[in-house]
Amino acid sequence: MNRYFIIPLIALYTLLLTGARFVTPEDDWTGTPQADFMQSEIVQSYQCTSCHTIGERGGTVGPILNYVGNRRPKDWLKRWLADPQLVKPGTKMPSFNLPPAQLEMTVDYLTSMKKKFNTKEILAKNISLEKKGELLFEDYNCIACHRVGSEGRFVGPELTWIGLRKTQAWEKEWLADPPAFKPNTFMPNFNIPEKGIEALAEFLHLQQGQKNEDSQRWEFRTNFFLGNTDKERGELVFKRFGCWSCHGESAGGGVENPNMAPDELMPALKKTTNTFSMQEFVTRLKKKKFVKPLDASKPAPPFFCPDYGNHMNETEISDLYAYLKSFAPKKSKWKFK
Ligand code: HEC
Ligand code: HEC
Ligand code: HEC
Repeated sequence: MNRYFIIPLIALYTLLLTGARFVTPEDDWTGTPQADFMQSEIVQSYQCTSCHTIGERGGTVGPILNYVGNRRPKDWLKRWLADPQLVKPGTKMPSFNLPPAQLEMTVDYLTSMKKKFNTKEILAKNISLEKKGELLFEDYNCIACHRVGSEGRFVGPELTWIGLRKTQAWEKEWLADPPAFKPNTFMPNFNIPEKGIEALAEFLHLQQGQKNEDSQRWEFRTNFFLGNTDKERGELVFKRFGCWSCHGESAGGGVENPNMAPDELMPALKKTTNTFSMQEFVTRLKKKKFVKPLDASKPAPPFFCPDYGNHMNETEISDLYAYLKSFAPKKSKWKFK
């Protein structure tokens, strides 16, 4: 069948599947600061919604902005809007050079887009620690940046498989104060109380891909519109399994692993396909790995390459290989002596 014929069919199918969402009462944004911002000259003239979801509508490139006032203080928002590149070099968010009055107005809108957290109420409930963590995850609106199952964004690493790759102890340390662990991180500090951190870490640690089932449909669509090449699917696998949380965006490396030999930096994977054959790569992903410490008397490095053995299927692994291969320096066929 012709591909251009299929697109409207898929759009219709998706609409039918998700249609029910548009009529639930909690999605009614009428009269909220979010709706006001949507109507404002700022969003109208600068098209913030081409990348950001506000209310129920908008793009998926940037974080969902609905409760941004909860996580970013005024002075941070000012600095961000004045020049995003200064705060996060390489970001896709353009600098709009807003005149001072408009900058002020935008910051006022954004700071008013917040809600009351229900941390105390959730923690007081008579339910499991995991369930409390799940409710807190929703309450803090972590899906503004992270994907779990079929919901969320790719601004932070996907958390569907987080339990496979990070220890619960590290998760607690991270949630308590992300910039303390990584000074320039884009993840905000939510000042979560200790009991809340415990619940969140419990919930996160139990995420070992069980919500992956939900997202099959989404991926099918993504793949379809991407053109369905192995390299592009591989990029999605790289993001979905969180390889980038350790091997860096675009497999560029440079993420710290304190006390790991030789230089405390986790490796780039740009040359991986030159070093590993497809078969060796498969074996490598299945093996339990150990990380050599730089100094045996200091605490062990917190990160190690997870055992993905039974969690990835063959297509996912070969797509991933194709993605990494797209970075690899070409091997020369001839050796000159
Ligand atoms: C071309 C896409 C794009 C457009 C257009 C865009 N942004 Fe962004 N924005 C991003 C991305 C991407 C991020 C997250 C930073 C990153 O991952 O690089 C971001 C982050 C933000 C943040 C921080 C959000 C948070 O949760 O911390 C705010 C606030 C923001 N944008 C406001 C705006 C406003 C207001 C406009 C319109 C005037 C706008 N953006 C237009 C891509 C965009
Ligand atoms: C404004 C976007 C944003 C929001 C909101 C956000 N995060 Fe993050 N988060 C990030 C980014 C970006 C990273 C990657 C850290 C880095 O490399 O700087 C991250 C990293 C993480 C990690 C480590 C992931 C890994 O694979 O190593 C966890 C766990 C995490 N966030 C949990 C949460 C939780 C829980 C919430 C809600 C309370 C939350 N995040 C809200 C942006 C965000
Ligand atoms: C929690 C952090 C973490 C995650 C997530 C992670 N890795 Fe690793 N990886 C490491 C560390 C640390 C090393 C270096 C030590 C070692 O060889 O095990 C490594 C090494 C590797 C190597 C060997 C590199 C070399 O040059 O010898 C490959 C290949 C690799 N990882 C692939 C992957 C892939 C593919 C993913 C995602 C499916 C992934 N890793 C996810 C931490 C991680």
